Amino acid sequence: MGTPLPNTNTLNHTMKEIDVFIRARYPVLYLLTHEESRLEKHLYRLAANQKKQLHLWSAPTGLTAYSDRSERPTGRGEYNDPIELLRHIQQSKQQALYLLKDFHPFLNDPHVVRCLRELASDLKETYKTVLICSPELNLPISLEKDITIIDIPLPDFRELYQLLTDICKVVHSTNKDAVQLNKNDAIEIVRATQGLTLSEAENVFSKAVVNDAVFDKKDIQLILKEKQQIIRKSQILDFYPSDSKLAEVGGLNNLKDWLRRRGKAFSGDAQKFGLTPPKGVLLLGVPGCGKSLTAKAIAAAWHTPLVKLDLGRIFSGLVGSSEENMRRAIKVAESVAPAVLWIDEIEKGLSGSSGSTSDSGTSARVFGTFLTWMQEKTAHVFVVATANRIDALPPELLRRGRFDEIFFIDLPGEGIRKNILEIHLLKRKRNPNHFDLDELAALTNGFSGAELEHCVEEALFRAFDQNKELTQGDLLQATKTIIPLSKSYREELTRSREWASHRARPADTPGPQNDSNSRKLELFDAQKENRKTGS
Ligand SMILES: Nc1ncnc2c1ncn2[C@@H]1O[C@H](COP(=O)(O)OP(=O)(O)O)[C@@H](O)[C@H]1O
Ligand SMILES: [Mg+2]
Repeated sequence: MGTPLPNTNTLNHTMKEIDVFIRARYPVLYLLTHEESRLEKHLYRLAANQKKQLHLWSAPTGLTAYSDRSERPTGRGEYNDPIELLRHIQQSKQQALYLLKDFHPFLNDPHVVRCLRELASDLKETYKTVLICSPELNLPISLEKDITIIDIPLPDFRELYQLLTDICKVVHSTNKDAVQLNKNDAIEIVRATQGLTLSEAENVFSKAVVNDAVFDKKDIQLILKEKQQIIRKSQILDFYPSDSKLAEVGGLNNLKDWLRRRGKAFSGDAQKFGLTPPKGVLLLGVPGCGKSLTAKAIAAAWHTPLVKLDLGRIFSGLVGSSEENMRRAIKVAESVAPAVLWIDEIEKGLSGSSGSTSDSGTSARVFGTFLTWMQEKTAHVFVVATANRIDALPPELLRRGRFDEIFFIDLPGEGIRKNILEIHLLKRKRNPNHFDLDELAALTNGFSGAELEHCVEEALFRAFDQNKELTQGDLLQATKTIIPLSKSYREELTRSREWASHRARPADTPGPQNDSNSRKLELFDAQKENRKTGS
């Protein structure tokens, strides 16, 4: 991967926004984050610049003045009761910021809500601002007009780099040999931690040091593993190792061409040229024709991490608040940018999102958050969504401005079938020239890529069972044992094709010449890659 692109949503940028809101006397801001102490430090600086005092409040400790000394405020503050607190803020003559931690549960109390509304209206005339800080968004409708919501981004490259530098200094001061990192190692280590909160990153670094008493390049693997664990805990995102290659995807030349151009536009140079980063692509079509395979291959081709998002789990409500999960997923994806975010079989994930179910519209709202993000995102996160069933997709998803393009992947034509057979024979170390692939391709009309792969596997099993090398006969036999899904799927296929003919681009260029030209090239690429990897 080249130099990391700047994340558009850095904390510094967000703090500037907060600064403007406060100067413009917005009365109440709702800051969404898990990272209280990181936020406190930055707010303290902001308050000092504006010559204001920063006060902290939490239900158990009450109200205390923040000091930048590292120890926690000693003694107990006052105004533990939220209503007393709001009255106190209303009466205070000080120019101040009030950071209320985990205030959101109190917003279920109508008295508190009313007090906050009255306070909000008074504060517009003063130099006081209330900042609610919480990892969860809980905002009654009656407060929506009075409160501004701000999402605090995860640490960016620079913040994490600073943390690493600080930790290394401490470790180095106790043991000179414990840190063995040059600048490039440090950059790689920081990249490996992108997507974590500052305290998660701190824990990971500590673990890397403690593990074998040396902090060196070898710890990157450990860090990546830890990150995968931490991200997995959210149960909706997964870092996916991807070793698929676009050269191992047969056909789909239109799509590959398009991807090649978009891949270029993913670079920093393209931005300077005036291009906006590509948003994403929706791959529709017949099961087993390479949609998931392509999604994985894109990340590998662009040398970006592949993050898989499980929408179904978000909407299932099994893993906590759907809204928080969606926010966290988006933040994590943005913080590892440039990245490919893969949503497989999106229609399955969305089946509960149309709002009619018993969750009083949560799913619809969460889906709305996702769509808005798709529309407005500026981070280099390329979304690849796949879907088998077109009629199950909500129309909002297909509207312009969400995906850059929708591609329809049809069953492979004869030339491409030959190409796919070649690819899978090569993958299993068989020379395609030893077989009459034209004959096989002609006999496998209606087969998907997955079914063609299955043919090759089946034939290999037969040969192995009979203690002999693979022959054309085995492959021919295998084609007879497979009944392609498209036979039982005919009606739906006709409907999908009809739908796609108006609304999607075909992933393949029809025409035999095209097939054979690209086939040669790809075969060449695939062989080259195979030789390189020794597989
Ligand atoms: N166009 C293709 N070229 C090469 N292999 C393919 C192709 N389409 C499908 N396959 C094989 O079938 C498997 C399953 O395909 P997949 O991408 O999961 O299909 P889907 O479109 O249902 O997501 C792939 O992992 C690959 O081995
Ligand atoms: Mg799939």
